[in-house]
Amino acid sequence: RKYMELDKALDLIADVPDFPEPGVLFRDLSPLFADAGGFKAVTHALADTVDPDADLLAGVEARGFLLAAAVGYSRGLGVVLIRKPGKLPRVAGRVEYTLEYGTATVELPEGIVEAGQRVAVLDDVLATGGTVAATCKLLEDAKAQVTGVSVVMELGALGGRSVLEGRRVEALRVC
Ligand code: PRP
Repeated sequence: RKYMELDKALDLIADVPDFPEPGVLFRDLSPLFADAGGFKAVTHALADTVDPDADLLAGVEARGFLLAAAVGYSRGLGVVLIRKPGKLPRVAGRVEYTLEYGTATVELPEGIVEAGQRVAVLDDVLATGGTVAATCKLLEDAKAQVTGVSVVMELGALGGRSVLEGRRVEALRVC
């Protein structure tokens, strides 16, 4: 039953061609987030993938924030916000990386992550893996330990998993 519900929830994700660039098939989770039952099913399924020893969740801007908040509430964990540049008043670290479409930077807020803390990374989509790999580096530069990576959808053909080799990667759906 649970998995039927999860499958139905994941079917709410919309495929939008040619966004944000021609040739890119954008996976839009907006209809899933807007559906109470769907959001709940995905939250519970993602929460089950988080390492029982995790101390903290890292949510990647922007859709990762929603997932990390919901899973954090469900698991009784706090959230560190992994942000795009120019948003944080105090920056502990910054990693630049190549995205499926262009380049990007992620930043870690200062004074949040402690050395030795076990952090689970959450995001909506794993595509090339650049964003999550940069996030893991950011956390490890701050001497945190990344326990694993959980995403709603993995785009298998883009090779994100190989960029994250050696890490525990959980995806609710692989396309
Ligand atoms: C998307 C998605 C992931 C990332 C995946 O974010 O939410 O964070 O791209 O791509 P990658 O595996 O190739 O790095 P987007 O840049 O659209 O940001 P947003 O969530 O702020 O809209």
